Amino acid sequence: MSLSLSAETPDVSADAVDGVWLECIECGETYAPFEDIRYTCDECDGLLEVRYAEPATFSEFEGEGVWRYSAALPLDEGVSIQEGATPLYEVPRLEADVGVEALRIKHEGMNPTGSFKDRGMTVGVAVARELGVDRLACASTGNTSAALAAYGSRGGAEVLVLLPAGKVAAGKVGQAALHDARILEVDGNFDACLDIVRDLADRGEVYLLNSLNPFRLEGQKTIGLEILEAFQADYGTWPDRIVLPVGNAGNTSALYKAFRELVQAGELEPEEVPKLTGVQAEGAAPMVEAIENGADEVRRWEEVETIATAIRIGNPVNAPKALPGIRETGGTAVSVTDEEITDAQRELAAEGVGVEPASAASVAGLRKLREEGVVSADEQVVCLTTGHLLKDPDAAANAGNEPEPVPASTDGVLASLASERSSDQ
Ligand code: F0G
Repeated sequence: MSLSLSAETPDVSADAVDGVWLECIECGETYAPFEDIRYTCDECDGLLEVRYAEPATFSEFEGEGVWRYSAALPLDEGVSIQEGATPLYEVPRLEADVGVEALRIKHEGMNPTGSFKDRGMTVGVAVARELGVDRLACASTGNTSAALAAYGSRGGAEVLVLLPAGKVAAGKVGQAALHDARILEVDGNFDACLDIVRDLADRGEVYLLNSLNPFRLEGQKTIGLEILEAFQADYGTWPDRIVLPVGNAGNTSALYKAFRELVQAGELEPEEVPKLTGVQAEGAAPMVEAIENGADEVRRWEEVETIATAIRIGNPVNAPKALPGIRETGGTAVSVTDEEITDAQRELAAEGVGVEPASAASVAGLRKLREEGVVSADEQVVCLTTGHLLKDPDAAANAGNEPEPVPASTDGVLASLASERSSDQ
């Protein structure tokens, strides 16, 4: 079964509770939503999705933030720290420089813990409470751990996070620490951490809140809903394309799901759906490889490396949901070098928008695709920036200007100012 952009609403499962159930995307097996704990299909191990008897329409949305979209979510309220409602910035110079008709930046770094992960956690931690579990865990390149630590604490749960030792940006580790998570630094990469957490979850030791958990992606759908509403309000149209960084491909899957449900609800025509365009770092680009090769499966990369540590991932677990999302919307995937990522980080910063390296990958990817002619000059584009600059202060300092030591006197400062800037980028 492939996930397609069809206007047909799903057959309501006998397992539905209040019109909500879980369904395997591979074999179609269905499950009641909050009865047992499962992350994948009992029958075939396929990925699960939350399904709704009546996909929500725009007129049902009211209020602000993630819970504005409760009609499209499996619960009416979550464990909330006022997540969502992030800005959709204009960047006129970058827009002109890249050469597209419109460019907007959806800055997810403006969420409470500084990344889009908060949108998934406000739902996921509430579901954990519904299920009666109180020991939550994730593997993380950093942002998921920060969000889970904050939302878990707020929800009164114990939190374990498994991080690849030495490969997580300082701001993120600090957040997980202060929000009181137990931090386990694994001598291995993110994919190894996720293998272990999945094992712990299968053994009943922890409740898993990685994006393999279908409820998390429901919260992340709201990024797509917010983009469409805000873009429509400003331009009276939908964006042609959404460009986003890809790690585990959770966001790609979530945005695609948001759009599929709007098509089912009669709010969007399939051809109006924005082209989902994924960007990976060259040193960690298994999804790009699969798109370029037309492959149905993604090959796991054992060795991965990039300055964008948030997306230093070789085995994107949501690929079976995300590959159809990219293909069915007419999108594509592209890889960029670390240098291109850093350049884009500086370009965004020049517009006042501070992002971490992984986030800048979206802009770097757009620029490359525009140069290659894959993106045309008349397109209206939204780039997703997924995490705040302060998440990775070392990367920001390295990409930016050096502080200049000066004497503690006005004359000394003026003398320094009269000389050449010691170190421009
Ligand atoms: N951007 C940032 C800043 C991220 O932290 C992540 C993922 C992504 C992009 C990729 O998103 O996985 O949905 O494709 N970070 C995860 C983490 C893996 O552990 O924080 P995706």
